[in-house]
Amino acid sequence: MKKAIVIGATSGIGRELTKILAKNNYIVGFTGRRGELLRELSKEITSKSYWKEFDISANESMSNLECLIEEMGKVDLIIICSGCGFINPELDFNKEKLTIDVNVSGFTAMVNIAMKHFIHQKAGHVVGISSIAALRGSGSGPAYSASKAFVSNYLEGLRQNVNKLALPITITNIQPGFVDTFMAQGEGLFWVASPKKAALQIYKKILDKKSHAYITKRWRVVACLLKIIPGGLYKKLYF
Ligand SMILES: NC(=O)c1ccc[n+]([C@@H]2O[C@H](COP(=O)([O-])OP(=O)(O)OC[C@H]3O[C@@H](n4cnc5c(N)ncnc54)[C@H](OP(=O)(O)O)[C@@H]3O)[C@@H](O)[C@H]2O)c1
Repeated sequence: MKKAIVIGATSGIGRELTKILAKNNYIVGFTGRRGELLRELSKEITSKSYWKEFDISANESMSNLECLIEEMGKVDLIIICSGCGFINPELDFNKEKLTIDVNVSGFTAMVNIAMKHFIHQKAGHVVGISSIAALRGSGSGPAYSASKAFVSNYLEGLRQNVNKLALPITITNIQPGFVDTFMAQGEGLFWVASPKKAALQIYKKILDKKSHAYITKRWRVVACLLKIIPGGLYKKLYF
């Protein structure tokens, strides 16, 4: 049986992905800070599962993930879903810092442990959940869009690394548009997918070992537009 770990599985996309993986005969490990929700999820999943309660931005997060991997044995797939973000045009530094601590430092800590495990076993699959917001800066959440640009860029760098090492390690960058979770804040949301629909599409991309995907698929159109809007026009828009 294949083994997968979902980091950030207490709610939203990560929770749905964990359930899909379990239904598809994966032995799953999952994490988050809200222990009660992890316990609930472990009861919902009928197959064997492992879970660990920790904050990915805390000092001991790396050793926590190492312990979970050790408990599970050889892990095939690690999905880093944890993330946070705020509507923060007033630039409250505490919110900006928390976003960077979780989405940049926490993400890097998790992906480093995942990569070391996969390089050691000479195979594996890392999935990072970035965002469509990674494509351009955001006036309403500057740290969030910048942190997700970091995630996308970091994953691309890892792909170069594994290519140089000539190892069969897949690196997948997922860029969702709006998904109906706590994270989808603000007004004027459109094309909002359910967490289940988003997770099913992500699962399909994982099976296909894709290096990149917009979720849902129609967000590719928005991505194309975002990439071509000149800076002079873009600054007059507000997201
Ligand atoms: N929803 C959207 O519209 C959207 C769009 C683009 C990208 N995304 C990305 O999708 C990912 C999943 O978000 P979601 O939409 O499913 O929202 P969500 O329901 O709020 O899920 C966020 C997950 O991240 C975990 N998390 C947050 N801070 C953490 C920390 N410090 N340490 C460990 N885990 C932490 C949460 O668990 P605990 O609180 O229990 O720790 C939760 O499981 C995020 O990376 C988000 O940026 C979402």
